Amino acid sequence: MFKQQPFGTIADQEIILYTLENKNGMIVRLTNFGGIVTSIHLPDRDGKPRDVVLGFDSLHSYIDEHPYFGCIVGRYANRIAHGQFTLDGVSYQLAKNNGENHLHGGPEGFDKKVWQAESFQHGDDAGVILEYLSPDGEEGYPGNLKVRVVYSLTGENELKIDYTAECDAPTPVNLTHHSYFNLNGQGEGDILGHELMINADRYTPVDEGLIPTGVLQDLTGTPMDFRSPKTIGQDFDQVPGGYDHNFVLNKKGGLSLAARLKSTVTGIVMDVLTTQPGLQFYSGNFLDGSLAGKEGKVYQKNYGLCLETQHFPDSPNQPSFPDVILRPGEKFHHQTIYKFNIEAY
Ligand code: BGC
Repeated sequence: MFKQQPFGTIADQEIILYTLENKNGMIVRLTNFGGIVTSIHLPDRDGKPRDVVLGFDSLHSYIDEHPYFGCIVGRYANRIAHGQFTLDGVSYQLAKNNGENHLHGGPEGFDKKVWQAESFQHGDDAGVILEYLSPDGEEGYPGNLKVRVVYSLTGENELKIDYTAECDAPTPVNLTHHSYFNLNGQGEGDILGHELMINADRYTPVDEGLIPTGVLQDLTGTPMDFRSPKTIGQDFDQVPGGYDHNFVLNKKGGLSLAARLKSTVTGIVMDVLTTQPGLQFYSGNFLDGSLAGKEGKVYQKNYGLCLETQHFPDSPNQPSFPDVILRPGEKFHHQTIYKFNIEAY
């Protein structure tokens, strides 16, 4: 089932807030501004509704600066060192918006765009198709890129995100979704007590600017080892600055389980499945209490975490990482599913 209502306007363009609801009482709200998921409500094991993502009540807060709450990130998610890369012998300079580096597609990335939107209902699945044409030269990227993101809520409590893109000149592409999850409910404390499993034997260590060194490091015996579920807080003190790392997912191709996150307070469990090779686990280290979120909740450090399915950061400059260059005639296609279950007492 779906509903739509006005959420405001940007330069005379109408911004819509879509509400998707399934038969289990799970409700997802999202908007065509930035493809932002503004809320995900589901009943916890006592039947009490919990909103498990951070965000704002109004459009203007999303237009103002914020740390990528709930949005679609592109054209290239995460960092590109010095905002530079060379492709087919030509050097490109991208916008720098993270010190010396380029982050999340630049200051006017896909999270700040108004997307064309169309809603649909197919049996138990309700969703929204979002489309955006990123022009040649936008934020310094070469070629026009036609992007399509389909969000759907299924009868099995899955929020499915299907990404496709096509270009008319070779360009790097890396698309992700940037919800900050808190399975205790938004504004209900930090996420250090959540249990996390990440299906990865290796991660990509970074320098001080959070740019990968190029090594695919075995994580055995390090605080990065989440192969057996543990609380995020368990080894947190041993990670300077907190978790903000890309994990090299163990995969044989296709859609597979990347991570499982659990709150023992609410019994809410979230599985992350993806076709992508990497997962950025970011523990909300830069949240600092300066943002007033939904229902007046204040988001302090570690009040939410991101599990961003992606290609590895800085891949255009890292020959040992999987290729991220999309060429004319090819189709970029990835899928990620956030699936929710409730564990009884
Ligand atoms: C990055 C963080 C960054 C945050 C922006 C995450 O995806 O990994 O380093 O600060 O996005 O809010």
